[in-house]
Amino acid sequence: MIILGIETSCDESAVSLLQIEERNSLPHVHILGNELISQIDIHAQYGGVFPMMAKREHAKNLVPLLDRLLKKTNLSGDEQKLSPENRDKILTILQREPELAAALIPFLEKTPRPKIDLISVTSGPGLEPALWVGLSFAQALSLVWDIPIHAANHMEGHIVSATLQDASFTSSVALRTIQFPALALLISGGHTELIHVSNFGSYKLLGQTRDDAVGEAFDKVARILGLPYPGGPEISKLAKIARDANLDKEKYSIPKLPRPMIHSGDLDFSFAGLKTAVLYLVQELKKTAPLTQEQKQVIACEFEDAVTEVLTTKTSEALDEIGAAELIIGGGVIANTHIRNAFEKLCVERNILLHLPHKELTTDNALMIALAGYFHKDSAKMYHAELGEKIIAQGNLRISQ
Ligand code: KG4
Ligand code: ZN
Repeated sequence: MIILGIETSCDESAVSLLQIEERNSLPHVHILGNELISQIDIHAQYGGVFPMMAKREHAKNLVPLLDRLLKKTNLSGDEQKLSPENRDKILTILQREPELAAALIPFLEKTPRPKIDLISVTSGPGLEPALWVGLSFAQALSLVWDIPIHAANHMEGHIVSATLQDASFTSSVALRTIQFPALALLISGGHTELIHVSNFGSYKLLGQTRDDAVGEAFDKVARILGLPYPGGPEISKLAKIARDANLDKEKYSIPKLPRPMIHSGDLDFSFAGLKTAVLYLVQELKKTAPLTQEQKQVIACEFEDAVTEVLTTKTSEALDEIGAAELIIGGGVIANTHIRNAFEKLCVERNILLHLPHKELTTDNALMIALAGYFHKDSAKMYHAELGEKIIAQGNLRISQ
């Protein structure tokens, strides 16, 4: 089957096409296309993501992205004209997205229906105005092309992204098999969660952050250090310099930072206090002189160490608690080399099989959303107003109750 993935939950507008065939009851995936426009440069000027600006950019990006995707993948389609009735229905579906409607209608008039079997679109969690753009777009395509939709959970996308063994476009590769129950750790800009995975589609939340998500902490600490958004990669670069040069914390007057909730006895996290500790430290240091580059590097390194220690300790406890032999990690923060290395070490020591997504699939993309759709293909629906089925954006959609 061929699945179209659509992702607009935050600051990446993305579409993808996956072909998935079962061979010897094992799903094999061929990545047909993956297109993405990052809005990071636009939001970076303001130090964070603005929902209404993200919405506007998604509305501008989606049609050109889909056009590019279909042209590159060369999916042969059936000649089909956009009927006047469907044109009117699209205008109703896209009432709140006039710019998207203005681009989509001429596109549909000239584009033959591609052979797509399922549309998987992120319905949450994320920024609601941004999510609505993707959902309305998916509904319009579903209506005109008569394709069912799966309303995907973005966090499930991050989990399943670790099963893609090959991120290239060259061939069809078996999905990694996972031994259940497995533990999933999700670390992104909005989430820090430990999840018991009894199967794809069947999740139980074991613990989560009580305040800031780990990616958010990276972004806020970067801001305190005067680094641009998104902060994760910036902090990671500075930390590496300090680590490689073995810079001495004491020499640069940097104390050990707290490891919040590391011994709390439960599987919850808290990163707000760690960020505040960095803030107070920087304020204190600045009283005598502006921060030196070396001080910034050492702070970044100490912050990264603190986060890594908390994440590995809690994950290790969760593995014990549920008796899992496999660990899946997903979300933008697992692009971090130091954190990846720490988990690789932990899993070797504990004889745990570790599943990490390819680096390029760690941050938001539509391949993971298409793949999440595959695991729910049998419950996909036609979400057309006239069929009485509604699809809605759910900013706080949870992965389990
Ligand atoms: O999963 P993602 O792309 O979006 C959300 O669903 O939130 O994650 C984005 C987050 C940002 O907070 C960003 O700073 C963080 O992932 N991030 C990193 C790194 N690359 C991205 N954090 C630490 N180290 C990195 N190398
Ligand atoms: Zn994400």
